[in-house]
Amino acid sequence: MPFYVQQGNIPAKRHIQHRDHNGNLYYEELVSRQGFSDIYSNVYHIHPPTRVQRMGAFEPIELIPTADKTHRHHHVETFKLSVGGDWISARTPLFFNSDVVLGTASPTKNGSYIYRNGHADEMIYIQRGAGHLISLYGKMSFREGDYIVIPKGIPYQLNFTSETGNQFFWVESAGPIETPERYRNQHGQHLEHSPFMERDFRTPELKAPVDETGEFEIKVKLVNGYQTIFQANHPFDLIGWDGYYYPWILNIHDFMPIVGKIHQPPPVHQTFQAPGFVVCSFVPRLFDWHELSIPAPYAHSNVDSDEIIYYSRGNFMSRSGIGEGSITLHPAGLPHGPQPGKYEASIGKQETNELAVMVDTFKPLQLTEFAMQIDDANYPLSWIQDKQNDH
Ligand SMILES: [Fe+2]
Repeated sequence: MPFYVQQGNIPAKRHIQHRDHNGNLYYEELVSRQGFSDIYSNVYHIHPPTRVQRMGAFEPIELIPTADKTHRHHHVETFKLSVGGDWISARTPLFFNSDVVLGTASPTKNGSYIYRNGHADEMIYIQRGAGHLISLYGKMSFREGDYIVIPKGIPYQLNFTSETGNQFFWVESAGPIETPERYRNQHGQHLEHSPFMERDFRTPELKAPVDETGEFEIKVKLVNGYQTIFQANHPFDLIGWDGYYYPWILNIHDFMPIVGKIHQPPPVHQTFQAPGFVVCSFVPRLFDWHELSIPAPYAHSNVDSDEIIYYSRGNFMSRSGIGEGSITLHPAGLPHGPQPGKYEASIGKQETNELAVMVDTFKPLQLTEFAMQIDDANYPLSWIQDKQNDH
């Protein structure tokens, strides 16, 4: 995240001696992107962060696309998926390509281990539940509507307060998840016309270091599996850190929508950018005020992208039969648009209470078998008026 944060006890200069009151050295670690040529943080440990005591198992994982290659629109109902597991094992991958993996999770317990995604940045949208993100950089509370962005390589735990009723929508990205470049000035500050700005971002608060030795399990996620390692000291032993690289949170309700006299296109809802996809937030807002305006969107051929929408709350103005936790996929190659009657019915409406997260990918997505198990087979035909009336 491109602004400077400083927490705890750090030395006056990088790479110099930093000691406790007994004269013991602290151990600096540089966490940096693109080699040494992009954003970074310097973190200061009580123990070296490299003390692997024992290698654990490698657990292979493979994303297998469904055998059904029918090219059509999809609607999957994620609340039909089974619940259970911790914030990692509960994750069900639903859609993927080489840039991104998307899915949902309904965890029922907190894990005992520490997790680090070695190959992907993560975005976690909290649909239901609350708790704390405990990471190398400190503690952050999270709540419903939060986008939690955890850049790759950061050890963390995601602890929910309750064992029931949790759900999050997650995105793993091969590249960095950032705010849109067009909303930032040459110094990285969010511009006047950005729908959010620095005061909306929550950053970690460093707590007292965990100065414990023993055997600490760290699960490292890689593209092709999980590698467990056991470290001889607790990894959350920082006494201070500073820099631009850390996890951060933006709540969807802090996105101030941009509205217009006529229908505004999805880029006004853009919240994040990443290599190969964008994320948009559809939030409650006033509708267009032109005397002939049609608030519902027009039919759309997204010739260069596949469009995922995760429906969070409210009535989505252009959709029928969609509920909380539904995900639609409108792939390239097929036009999509409001369902019968929705275009007409939107005329004269003053506002919408919809809340949804859209992910547009620039490469085609594949569906997993998990997605097909909760797929609504009638959805591709839901634009036929007669069919609609039969229901
Ligand atoms: Fe669309």
